[in-house]
Amino acid sequence: MLNRQFPITRMRRMRKDDFSRRLMRETTLSASDLILPMFVIEGHNEREPVKSMPGVERLSIDLLVAEAKEVCELGIPMIAIFPVTPLEAKSLDAAEAYNPDGLAQRAVRAVKEAVPELGIMTDVALDPFTTHGQDGIIDEDGYVLNDDTIDVLMKQALSHAEAGADVIGPSDMMDGRILEIRELLEDHGHINTRIMAYSAKYASSYYGPFRDAVGSAGNLGKGNKHTYQMDPGNRNEALHEVALDLNEGADMVMVKPGIPYLDIVRDIKNEFKAPTYVYHVSGEYAMLKAAAEKGWIDEQPVVLETLLSCKRAGADGILTYYAKLAAIWMQEAK
Ligand code: PBG
Repeated sequence: MLNRQFPITRMRRMRKDDFSRRLMRETTLSASDLILPMFVIEGHNEREPVKSMPGVERLSIDLLVAEAKEVCELGIPMIAIFPVTPLEAKSLDAAEAYNPDGLAQRAVRAVKEAVPELGIMTDVALDPFTTHGQDGIIDEDGYVLNDDTIDVLMKQALSHAEAGADVIGPSDMMDGRILEIRELLEDHGHINTRIMAYSAKYASSYYGPFRDAVGSAGNLGKGNKHTYQMDPGNRNEALHEVALDLNEGADMVMVKPGIPYLDIVRDIKNEFKAPTYVYHVSGEYAMLKAAAEKGWIDEQPVVLETLLSCKRAGADGILTYYAKLAAIWMQEAK
């Protein structure tokens, strides 16, 4: 087609120099956009690498606290804590989930005391605590029972808030849990505890390395989470989920995984204008790491472009295992 605007309009004019490229840049990435998920283990001065996630380590609480300080100094606003529960603490009723002296609760208290200005988010779901690796309480057929599970999730969420968690992150995908948790928090005076709902959490195959990291993969075996996590083919259903969670009192909503689901992030941002987050998950991290280790991609620019793309899609923040590295890279570039 003949372009009658040319040469009146030359798109390349604005791209010519760094100053005009910077002036017209629509989206930017900074450390303030990042949330670092961290894995915590029992013990003292213990660190264990996660095989399928090079660069990610499970840390005992003392080392987690030291790392949290560094993360905070880099300008990262929040971490998300995931406990690696010893096998002997797992059960059918997942009672360890709401143990006030459980690993997650102790980790929250320790980090909050040492680095009070750093936001702490916790994961509300039962998979690290069940012998079968499902996110809830199951019946004799292995079906996850919604309402029975919520009773346990409520206790878990309250125990996190009491330990000092700033943000509760229900990642379990039970129906109605946000309202129940919200009301319980209100009743106990935790009126400012924020809830980041994993609203559009898909039954994704990208969570494999995470399940290795928290040690739930072996428990889950060939099981799957299709009766509660969303079907990857669905788009409108994500909007339905977000509408419910916001109505039930969620302050923030999340889409998970990240890159393959950025269309969902954009839909949600357009529709609700609420604080929206995306989880760049373990499998996505593993793919970038593997390609970088092979020398097939240049890790730093690819990662920063990936995270920027999440923001461009409409995310206000990104949960990513790259948070610390990305913050360091951005600081070095200044
Ligand atoms: C637990 C939970 C999972 C992730 C975060 N919270 C795994 C799952 O649902 O099986 C995955 C995070 C990742 O892959 O990085 N409910």
